[in-house]
Amino acid sequence: MSDLCIISFPGSDYPPINLQPHQNLSEYLTIKNSPVLFGCRTGICGTCLVEVIGDIPAAKADEKEMLDTLAPNVENARLACQIDVTANVEIRRLENSKDNSYNKV
Ligand code: FES
Repeated sequence: MSDLCIISFPGSDYPPINLQPHQNLSEYLTIKNSPVLFGCRTGICGTCLVEVIGDIPAAKADEKEMLDTLAPNVENARLACQIDVTANVEIRRLENSKDNSYNKV
């Protein structure tokens, strides 16, 4: 499949980015072109926690475990560094609030 996937960031000032399918978001998203922040890039720190709307493969077991801990009540929560981009997606960053729950930024 050669169609580009459009990565958009609703609610932010960042313009959408076009990527080839199966690109790793952590290699293409930076603080200059997206609201998403990265730390470990290997799925263990939780810095890249986001809400994702789009038809992409479900989280694998390790990512699911992290999501259950970090954002158990957020539907569509994902770790941006672990996403396999296969379709257009909308991404919103989630931020840890004082009561230790995550909120949309
Ligand atoms: S950057 Fe650490 S979990 Fe994604």
